[in-house]
Amino acid sequence: MSSNSAYVAASATPAPALSVQEQILRRRPVQDAAPRFLQPVENGGVRLLILENISQQAVSAFRTLGFHVDHYTTAMSEKELVEKIPSYHAIGIRSKTKITSKVIAAAPKLLAIGCFCIGTNQVDLNAAAAAGIPVFNSPFSNSRSVAELVMGELVALSRQLFDRSYELRNGIWNKQSKGCWELRGKTLGIIGYGHIGSQLSVLAEAFGIRVLFYDVINIMPLGSARQVPTLTALLSEADFVTLHVPELPETTNLISTQQLKEMKKGSYLINNARGKVVDIPALVEALKSGHLAGAAIDVFPSEPGSNGAPFDDKLNPWASELRGLHNVILTPHIGGSTEEAQRMIGDEVAQALSSYLGYGSTLGAVNFPEVDLRAITAEQGTQIRICHVHRNKPGVLRQINEALSPYNVEKQYSDSKGEIAYLMADIAGVGKADVSKLQELIDATDANILTRFLA
Ligand SMILES: NC(=O)c1ccc[n+]([C@@H]2O[C@H](COP(=O)([O-])OP(=O)(O)OC[C@H]3O[C@@H](n4cnc5c(N)ncnc54)[C@H](O)[C@@H]3O)[C@@H](O)[C@H]2O)c1
Repeated sequence: MSSNSAYVAASATPAPALSVQEQILRRRPVQDAAPRFLQPVENGGVRLLILENISQQAVSAFRTLGFHVDHYTTAMSEKELVEKIPSYHAIGIRSKTKITSKVIAAAPKLLAIGCFCIGTNQVDLNAAAAAGIPVFNSPFSNSRSVAELVMGELVALSRQLFDRSYELRNGIWNKQSKGCWELRGKTLGIIGYGHIGSQLSVLAEAFGIRVLFYDVINIMPLGSARQVPTLTALLSEADFVTLHVPELPETTNLISTQQLKEMKKGSYLINNARGKVVDIPALVEALKSGHLAGAAIDVFPSEPGSNGAPFDDKLNPWASELRGLHNVILTPHIGGSTEEAQRMIGDEVAQALSSYLGYGSTLGAVNFPEVDLRAITAEQGTQIRICHVHRNKPGVLRQINEALSPYNVEKQYSDSKGEIAYLMADIAGVGKADVSKLQELIDATDANILTRFLA
């Protein structure tokens, strides 16, 4: 669990902003000489298809690295992609473009897929892995945005802000202090102390809030926060309960009738995690009975597919009942939707794609073994890098090392994930003719999926 390091990074004095290209070059492991950004040995440059209006900064960074980029503001249908994709080496998408097995089958040159978003379920990850294509995303770039939203919701709920604002917008002056509270001295219970939960912990303490958290793993608390051993312990002590767990079979209806009963009378529930984590009909009952004083819900079991689509009982049978309740904040899954988060997503995925295309690194890939090698430096002119994706079966390394045996292997590393394995090797003193020969030998091995030579 890297939540503590996420906090340290976020709270340290900000470093001067680096361009995406500088980040790509600087992220290579520390070494004395400058890393050499590698290009494919075979003829023809790298072509990228970038869809769905991905950040201009990322597009410029790709161009600076020498890639040809075709940039579209919209998504593409499967049919359009099947026509368009054959000439591209990488594609960047957000959540609307579906990369199906049919699209992958139509993409003989495709080397990498970048999802400039959090989720990757718009990509057939198994089909991509089987074709030797790693998929990259940016799972944690919006943690801060979610944590800040929760801070806003804490204030808004405890001051009944949305009800007062709604009344005044309808011409009703209703100044009152009954049931309105300061946050100072109250207890916040965080369920799931990962990237978001731990950021929130720090922000909440700055408000004078006492923080408790519950997590399935033991985590070093930040500041004066305290981990409690059970969910019940958290629910029975917290004035505000906020959820930051992933969607898993174990977290489905993590908060249901029993857990709501265990919460203090007059407490509040906030869910910015995933829609299925809270049993909403049970929450509606707890709000109607007055046991809970309010709730903020950003995520729902079924969410409309596009802006403007109705949020009604057809989508979720309890929708109109929930919409009619007092001191309930309902938002359309905006927890991570800020310009800062979008920019960070753009930088992170552009960096991951470039590192794979230019260095062979699969660090951060969701469907692939994560392999990286120290960079080849500018001085190591005769070294080339072999990036060999293959089926995970016995005997492959023997075959590859036999092919490499006439050369000096400077460094080599391989790893596997399920049926896919990936080997990176740097070899020295290799001429053009050797590359063609090596390519032929490795392509002929029975487990070969995709082999690239970078120089
Ligand atoms: N509303 C939004 O727009 C938005 C944006 C980003 C993330 N999210 C969601 O927020 C959630 C948390 O994101 P994160 O980046 O902090 O994740 P994370 O993986 O960093 O942290 C999740 C934490 O939950 C803990 N956990 C897992 N199962 C648990 C259980 N049964 N009980 C208690 N703790 C448990 C894990 O150990 C981990 O520490 C995810 O569901 C994510 O999809 C929502």
